[in-house]
Amino acid sequence: MALHFSVPVSRNSGESLTAQIQRFIKQEIQRGTLHPGTRLPPSRSLAVDLEVSRSVVVEAYAQLAAEGYLEAVRGAGTRVRSHLSREAVVPVLLDEGPVPPMRWDLRPGSDNAPGLPRREWLTAYQRALGAPRPRGTTRPHLAGEPELRGELARHLGRLRGVSATPSGVLVVGGFAQALTLLCAVLPDLGVTELAVEDPCHPGQRRFVRDNGLRVVPVPVDDEGIDVDALAATSARAVLVTPAHQFPTGSVLSAARRDALVRWARSVDGWIVEDDYDGGLWYDRRLPGPLALQRLAPERVVYAGTASKVLDPGLRLGWLAAPEELLHRLLHVRARHDLGTESFTQLALAELLRSGLFDRHLRRLSQRCAVRRRSLEDAVRIHLPGAAVRGPAAGLHASVRLPEGTDEAALVAGALRRGVLVRGGTAFGTARNRAEPALVVGHAHLPRTGIAEALHAIGAGFSRPGPGSRRR
Ligand SMILES: Cc1ncc(COP(=O)(O)O)c(C=O)c1O
Repeated sequence: MALHFSVPVSRNSGESLTAQIQRFIKQEIQRGTLHPGTRLPPSRSLAVDLEVSRSVVVEAYAQLAAEGYLEAVRGAGTRVRSHLSREAVVPVLLDEGPVPPMRWDLRPGSDNAPGLPRREWLTAYQRALGAPRPRGTTRPHLAGEPELRGELARHLGRLRGVSATPSGVLVVGGFAQALTLLCAVLPDLGVTELAVEDPCHPGQRRFVRDNGLRVVPVPVDDEGIDVDALAATSARAVLVTPAHQFPTGSVLSAARRDALVRWARSVDGWIVEDDYDGGLWYDRRLPGPLALQRLAPERVVYAGTASKVLDPGLRLGWLAAPEELLHRLLHVRARHDLGTESFTQLALAELLRSGLFDRHLRRLSQRCAVRRRSLEDAVRIHLPGAAVRGPAAGLHASVRLPEGTDEAALVAGALRRGVLVRGGTAFGTARNRAEPALVVGHAHLPRTGIAEALHAIGAGFSRPGPGSRRR
């Protein structure tokens, strides 16, 4: 059977023919033009049609098969893998689009969170549903249900040292909505640029840009964001992850915290504190840092989310913001929706009130501590010379690779062995060169999975010799 397949290839594009074929097929699968199960022409006939050598097509097909996009079916040729059904592409904050399923997926992100404590959630939800509600309050409050705002103010004060009254708390649909609202409000305050940490979550950079602000990347080191570098920019607002920098894991030092607040006051600016892993701290050597917001509640917007410690599907987040900003945020929100779904809010309020949330957090910390130790052991064995960076906290850790390690080759090799892991480069911008690293989401994995995945990664690792150049 002659299968027709149009692949545009150019001989003077500067890109190899194999790479062009590979990129085109991948793009068409991601677009949904090439459907799961679609048969592709045999390499020989496609090579004839494209007037290229057969090895060009064979190599492109092989690479796409290794990445999980294609499969060779005995007697039926090469097909688009049948499980790659297209997902709706929606503009969510941290969405990367469909990726091929792997034996181990180590990407950090809330989709890899260990998940909702179902029994506790069910109890809390049932209580919330059963509680009598005053008549005429069936629509959610725009700022959030008073029960939840009260519980959050108490909880955040106790656990994170956040200084907020219930009326200073705004319940939102996850950090994504918090960021959208902030991006809409900041220009009214004369702020059109948002400085972000470099590296940070690439989805956040894109999100801020798509919401109309200019993104200003500022380097991060072992003490967190470089405040001198920030002060050298023209930005008057910054988005930071001070408790556990995403993705490097560093903690913003006390000196930098003071400097950051001084900077905000001096430029009449704003700090957005993304406390995404919500005080999940299990490092026995050090006390966990409190929120930055407590140092300057009039300058810092504190943002928390249920996505990591409970479940990203809840779409629940919260802000503690200075009054001036809170009013503006509410005003903008009133143009977009009518508030966050009530019963989910009431269930979270009940979870917090009853102590079930604290119990869950304790269990989650214990689970993560065990995963972290397994990761440290596996790194020692399979990646000699590498080290897990930062305190034991959160759902992920950054692994610093020895100077000179070819990070891209290590990541590609891992992929071929069924492990999807992100290198540090995936999170940074070209402006600030990142040291070689792997960013490992560990909380969702079985302990044996961590060892197995690191074994597979380590199979492609050779410790660089002295004097090897950074790549
Ligand atoms: C750095 C960072 N901030 C915030 C979030 C949470 O976003 P949301 O609350 O919209 O799910 C995530 C989730 O992956 C994250 O990685």
